[in-house]
Amino acid sequence: MKISVIGAGNVGASTAYALAMRGVCDELAMVDIFGTTAQSKAMDIAQSVHVFNKNLKVLGGDDYALIANSDIVVMTAGSPRKPGQTREDLLLINAKVLDMAVKNIVKYAPNAFIVVVTNPLDVMVYLAYEFSGFAKNRIIGMAGELDSARLNYEISTLKGEFCSSSKVVGAHNDKMIISKNYLSTNLNDDELAHIDSQTRNGGAKFVNLVGTSAFYAPAAGAVKICEAIKNDTNELQSVSIVLDGFACGRLAKIGKNGVGEVSEFNLTDKENESLKASEVEIVQNIKFIKENL
Ligand code: APR
Repeated sequence: MKISVIGAGNVGASTAYALAMRGVCDELAMVDIFGTTAQSKAMDIAQSVHVFNKNLKVLGGDDYALIANSDIVVMTAGSPRKPGQTREDLLLINAKVLDMAVKNIVKYAPNAFIVVVTNPLDVMVYLAYEFSGFAKNRIIGMAGELDSARLNYEISTLKGEFCSSSKVVGAHNDKMIISKNYLSTNLNDDELAHIDSQTRNGGAKFVNLVGTSAFYAPAAGAVKICEAIKNDTNELQSVSIVLDGFACGRLAKIGKNGVGEVSEFNLTDKENESLKASEVEIVQNIKFIKENL
């Protein structure tokens, strides 16, 4: 299996390294338009696999031809959030980067699945679908498992016991849904309010501490999707998928055909209202990009 990672910055390099360490592919390509970023990081990763006596071909450079015939392309190129910026502030900047990347995916890797990580996620997922003309099942947005990981981290920290099966669903923005129906641990109202605010602000908390957005946990989320496709696990994941005229987070089985069966949500009326409001916002942002790109 060949996996390519577009963008060799924090998220892209972390994704490529995690793919190499977990042995997800036997060929890995990294592309970044900035100088020797991809070339140098690819060389570093190529050397690190020798530490573990693994045979992995790793390529890197600024030429999109490197992604030729990839089975999966992970899209991480684009600007990260700076302190005070929302994911939506990145709309036009990252839509242009996505446009360029997708043109090259269509040209060099026309049969690939696209795993989108670039923010604002749900908008980028839908644009990747429209720009590529690929079938809906081949475009998968990574964020729900990241938000879920943050939720599970907060619950584990509060309760002092490891948990990893609670899910965050819906949009990858401040309107993400943290519902009692998708928690694997019983929480009282105060605990839930605390966990909710910590999880919802988990991304911004990192941005304020580091000055840029998170990378290891987002990379782990992207690798989880690649592994599910490669191993046809059909595991239910919280992912952003293409819906009717927009994309948003849903619980879907991910396997060798990409997005499979999608679960019906079990949400309260209030949660459904919040989901709808976030979807309206995503539709407006898609419209804004189409009018301004
Ligand atoms: N083609 C290829 N690479 C590009 C392009 C392009 N058209 N435009 C920008 N890049 C590269 C940059 O050169 C940079 O190395 O994308 C990389 C982005 O890396 P970082 O600035 O470190 O950003 P990162 O933290 O990795 O975040 C990337 O992922 O989680 C999201 O919100 C985040 O949208 C952001 C994206």
